[in-house]
Amino acid sequence: MRDGKTLDWEIGDPEEALTLPSRYFFDPAIYAHEVETIVHRSWHCVCHRSEVPEPGDFVKFDIDRQSVLVVRGDDGAVHAYHNVCQHRGTRLIQERRGQIKRAITCPYHAWSYAFDGTLKTAPRTGALKGFDPSEFSLKAVRVEEYAGFLFVNMDLEATPLAEEAAGAEEAMRPFFRDLDDLVFVEEVDYEIDVNWKVIIDNEIEGYHFQLSGPVHKELAHLIDFKGYSMTPHGKWWDFKGPPKAVETAFGHPVAGAAYQTDWFYNITLWPMTTLYTFPYADVIGTFNKMPLGPEKTLLRFGHYRPKSREPGALSRAVIDWFNTQLGPEDIDLNLMLQQGVHSLGFDQGRYVIDAERSANSEHLVHHFHRLVYEALTGGDAGPDARAETPRAAE
Ligand code: FES
Ligand SMILES: [Fe+2]
Repeated sequence: MRDGKTLDWEIGDPEEALTLPSRYFFDPAIYAHEVETIVHRSWHCVCHRSEVPEPGDFVKFDIDRQSVLVVRGDDGAVHAYHNVCQHRGTRLIQERRGQIKRAITCPYHAWSYAFDGTLKTAPRTGALKGFDPSEFSLKAVRVEEYAGFLFVNMDLEATPLAEEAAGAEEAMRPFFRDLDDLVFVEEVDYEIDVNWKVIIDNEIEGYHFQLSGPVHKELAHLIDFKGYSMTPHGKWWDFKGPPKAVETAFGHPVAGAAYQTDWFYNITLWPMTTLYTFPYADVIGTFNKMPLGPEKTLLRFGHYRPKSREPGALSRAVIDWFNTQLGPEDIDLNLMLQQGVHSLGFDQGRYVIDAERSANSEHLVHHFHRLVYEALTGGDAGPDARAETPRAAE
């Protein structure tokens, strides 16, 4: 940052720290710096590998002003490119997903690219002085498969995701028993006028769970909060809660239902990819937050089911409930918070963190803010940045 003062924040002991200053949630200069240091340099989940089974199958991923194309090549490998023509910079593909026949062709002057990114044809360039088509291949983006999902990173030097998120796949597998055998069900997008961190802050604390709207209480009723844990592990964190004995969930009988787990399980890979499942649901959800501006974010709720089973009535109810009730209830909370951060009457509050790191504690919010701060300032913010472990789980 050119203006060093803008980033000032005392991270401190989580139990005593003041919250990230409110300008972090709207200041265009801080946002621009986040784009450079976080958006352009982190791993982002695009889709599940089953969404691009054949050569030419693609999924497009947009974040801030960038657009990335993930496409299955003729060689069977998955490739990722910046979604931009090398002639004069037209965006190549507009659709979120689909199948390309033979080549990726620019809609403007029809330059066309093979799935391996090489420029195959470019009309009227045959006699062009010093024109070497091999210098005009699509620009590559890193792509890696992790836990069955495809992630991209625009930083060609990025640490491999498996290394950055070491341990995350092992942690999630017991709760996502069909992780290797998923197919896409549907996704819903909400573009909302909030900073991306507001959404994550809301997602990673249980403090509001039993205090906010009725829909949250409906979920809380299925979880035994005495056994709930929320645990940071460096660049990923998870929270989970064991089941309560219930006969119905989401308006349907639990007996006889197929499900991934009877636990509530939610895991986030830095910075903004969340995978989760609700108790008794036979689906795995993705909950991704793509910043589009300092106060604009695309929320994407995706759902995946085991290949061999259509969602039963309970699981179908969970998808609808999440898309139309829980999601919107959280969006309302986020919008109210975004209004407040501009107030001349607020700058920093307190993280409500208890020694037990209980279900109602905001320690993950502090952990997340620490990671944001470290990314922005290019350093390790403190000795316990990576080692914060909930005491209750020790
Ligand atoms: S901009 Fe793509 S072919 Fe001209
Ligand atoms: Fe919530």
